[in-house]
Amino acid sequence: MEPFHPSPETARAFRDALGHYATGVTVVIAESDGQPLAITVNSFASVSLDPPLVLWCPAKGSSRFATFLDADRYSIHVLAADQRDLGLRLARSGSDFGRDRVERTEHGFYRLPGCLAWFECLPHAAHDGGDHAILVGQVQRAACRPGDPLIFWGGRYGDFLQHGI
Ligand SMILES: Cc1cc2nc3c(=O)[nH]c(=O)nc-3n(C[C@H](O)[C@H](O)[C@H](O)COP(=O)(O)O)c2cc1C
Repeated sequence: MEPFHPSPETARAFRDALGHYATGVTVVIAESDGQPLAITVNSFASVSLDPPLVLWCPAKGSSRFATFLDADRYSIHVLAADQRDLGLRLARSGSDFGRDRVERTEHGFYRLPGCLAWFECLPHAAHDGGDHAILVGQVQRAACRPGDPLIFWGGRYGDFLQHGI
């Protein structure tokens, strides 16, 4: 392991090092001009149990940044192993839900079918995070189901192989 200082010259190496942290993949959906707008995100993390807080980080350079920064509510969906293509499509275009119909709940949250878990959030705080913002959401409602998660690691997608414990 060769140490380096993160700098513009070592940006690739820094991304690679960060990519060694395995995450799940989530899709965040907010309303934009009366329509659902999605973004695929692996910066999701739990923050607090009481109050119930989670965070995620949209890039300031994303064309969708303003929508999520200004959103008065959003829903976060944890993708299942069979939702890789959906995650890739929504990374490219925030409105390309394909055949997956997103429903709007009576409280104005959008719901992506087939996910492993969802969290309906109201904005709690927005912090500066360099070229990203750190958005903290207060969870109003949540649900989950059993199933295999989509895993993202080293720029690749996979699923979870459980070795018996
Ligand atoms: C697996 C995966 C994880 C991602 N995680 C984030 C993230 O945490 N934050 C973010 O701003 N964009 C993330 N992106 C990129 C966005 O989904 C999207 O592609 C980006 O905002 C570009 O949007 P634009 O073309 O509308 O500018 C991720 C993409 C993928 C495929």
